[in-house]
Formats: sequence, structure tokens, C-alpha cells
Amino acid sequence: MFKDRVLSGMRPTGYMHLGHYHGALKNWIALQSQIECFYFVADWHALTTNYEDPRVVAKSTFEMVADWLGAGLDPNQCTIFLQSQVPQHAELSLLLGMITPLGWLERVPTYKEQQENLSEKDLTTYGFLGYPLMQTADIIVYRANKVPVGEDQVSHLEISREIARRFNHIYGREAGFEDKALATIKKLSGKLGKEYESAKLAWNQNGDSAQLERGKQIVAEAGSLSAIDKETLFGFLTGARKTILPEPQALLTPTSKLIGLDGRKMSKSYGNGIDLREPPASVEKKIRAMKTDPKRARRTDPGNPDDCPVWTLHQVYSDDARKLWVREGCTTAGIGCLECKQPVIDAVKAELEPMQARIAEIEAKPGYVKDVLRAGCARAREVTEATMRDVRDAMGLAKLD
Ligand code: TRP
Ligand code: SF4
Repeated sequence: MFKDRVLSGMRPTGYMHLGHYHGALKNWIALQSQIECFYFVADWHALTTNYEDPRVVAKSTFEMVADWLGAGLDPNQCTIFLQSQVPQHAELSLLLGMITPLGWLERVPTYKEQQENLSEKDLTTYGFLGYPLMQTADIIVYRANKVPVGEDQVSHLEISREIARRFNHIYGREAGFEDKALATIKKLSGKLGKEYESAKLAWNQNGDSAQLERGKQIVAEAGSLSAIDKETLFGFLTGARKTILPEPQALLTPTSKLIGLDGRKMSKSYGNGIDLREPPASVEKKIRAMKTDPKRARRTDPGNPDDCPVWTLHQVYSDDARKLWVREGCTTAGIGCLECKQPVIDAVKAELEPMQARIAEIEAKPGYVKDVLRAGCARAREVTEATMRDVRDAMGLAKLD
């Protein structure tokens, strides 16, 4: 019923590293030529944990978007925007908040976990608890049905589907409702069925409220209908039904989790990453210093690639022949670790070179990133306002026009 649309966002954390690129960005770039895509800077999300320092969030926004463009996101193929300039996100978030039970938010698996991980911050706030709800609004306000997220975010999409379903249930109508209702009418006796249909028609076409009452009476008194059947036919009396907010699905596409230089997950906060802006000499230095299988203390000790973070880089950058070379050379001590790392160093440098050239071009044009975001926000406001009109209508909020 709604067309395919992709939506995804990232919190502004400043310069992007290879973990962001291989874990998400590369996939965003691949999607932009296939489906209509909206990508946004989730600056309000960043505030849920960084509310004390919004200036850092603002600065990081421009650095991050320059990196997105340098990596290959093309504003002519997708819409790139800033969340805090599209107030419809906030409006939908507020309205969905009215129907979201607290327990749903408290039960999101990452809620307690993150609070504990970031124990240096006071995260006993309303905003932090509501973050999966805001994320739901982000998605649904575009009626996006495809959301590329990491596995850690799949539970957030589940709550998004539940909230969308609840909204449709309360204010709208489920998909396939019409067919369900027509089948339910058949459960009435032929005569009562016809009478129900003509009552519905009289009400819908002429606003004949006596006929509406008659329809309701037929349903209420029908012994052949279950409680659910009765609810269906009561609802059907007053009009055609439609899904107002589609339920979003995770788009699980192949992405690679890059291990950081120290063997932990690549993350800015661990300082173990390689930035997209990393100068070639620094790429070389960092990878040469990267940890390897601890069992290979000496060149003559055999190792196991499965215990080595460099191997995760080969999985991203090397073809089968080279991977075989690594596996054999490592397990027989036939190659040294520096020898093993060299092709990865070359591949990373080759990957980053054109990105860095583009980033330099972008940053040489003053105001370019802002222009891209401004145009993206205008488009985003247009699309989201269309959804909001339907949402306000479905809820029956007062209109002044
Ligand atoms: N939660 C994501 C993050 O922490 C960002 C995000 C916000 C997002 N809203 C979203 C991702 C909607 C996908 C869809 O990076
Ligand atoms: Fe890691 Fe390669 Fe050294 Fe084996 S040879 S431990 S895979 S760097």
C-alpha cells in the first residue's frame, strides 16, 4: 500500500571510522540507487545521553555529514537531513507517547544495560527512557518499511512495530480489514446480512443515523457472531478501513563488524579505530602496531587467524586466494605478521584515498554541507507533513481550517 522506503540514522559522533563504514555506511550507499532512502543525523538521540553538551553534538554533525558525502552518499540520490530541523519527528513522538505503555519502554533489553554501561551519566531521565519511542517516530513519520539496523537494534524495531500496530488498532484500521469484514458478514443469516449491508450503505452515503443504529442492533443481537466478529462489524459499519502507519521491518543486509586495533569492537570511545580521514602514514603505523594472535609471540610460533583481529580485516579486504595464504602462512608460521598485514594496509589506503579526496573537496566549499542538509530537511518536512496530516485526521484532532 505504501511504497518501499528506507530510513536510517546515526548519532553525530564526529569523524566516521572504518567500523561505521563497513557496519552501516557502505550499505546505505549501496541502497541509495535501489530504493528511496532517507538518512539523518540523529542529533536529538545524541541528546538522550549527551544532554549536558549539545555544542559537541552540533560540531560533530557537520564532520559526520562531510564524511558521509566523502564516503559516497549522494544527495542527488538520497535525502540527507538533520533530525532537529524536522519538527514532525517530535510531534509524532509526542502523539505516540500517549499510547505507549511505560512497561514496553522499560522492557527494551538495552535500557537497563546502557544505563549501567554509562553509569558515569545520570540517565534516569524521561528522554533516555523514551529513546526507542523517538526512534519509532523517526521511522514511522516516513512510513519507512525498511530499516537497515545492526543486530543490537532489532529489539527496537519490535517495539516500533508494536506501537504502529497499537496506533492502527486504536485510531485506524488493520490491513485486510475489508476482506475480514466481508467474510464476517457471511456469518449472519442471508436476510440479516443484507439488512446489515443496506444499513451500512444508508449510513455511509446518507448519514442516516437510524440506519446506523439498526446496523448496530443487528450485530449486537446476532447469536452467530463471536465477540471479535461483533467488533469487526461494528467498526465496518462506519466506513472503509486503512492502515495509517505501516509496521517497519529490519533490513538485515550483509555488513561487517570491524574489530578495533586492540581486538575490541571498533569504537570512538575506545580510541581503537581508523578514521576515514586517517592519513596514509597513520594507517600504516596503526595497522603495523595492531594486536595479533597472542600465541605468535615469536615469528616462528604458529598462530590461528580466528584469534587474531587482523583476520577480521582480511575478511573484509581479501579475496579467497589471499585468505588461504593467510590461513596457511599463519598456522604453519610460514609468514610473519607484518607480511600478513601489508595487503590489508594497502587495501585500506586504496579505499580511503578517493574518500579523502572527496572530503577535501567538500570542505573546500564553504557552506556546502549545510546546503545539503537544508535541502534534505525541506524534502523531509514535506514527506513527514503528509504523514502527520493523516495522523492528526485519524486521531480526530480539532481542525481550524
Ligand atoms: N539509534 C540509532 C543510533 O544510536 C540512531 C537512530 C535514531 C536510528 N533513529 C533511528 C536508526 C531510526 C535507524 C532508524 O545510532
Ligand atoms: Fe594474525 Fe596474520 Fe599474524 Fe596470523 S599471521 S597472527 S592472522 S597477523
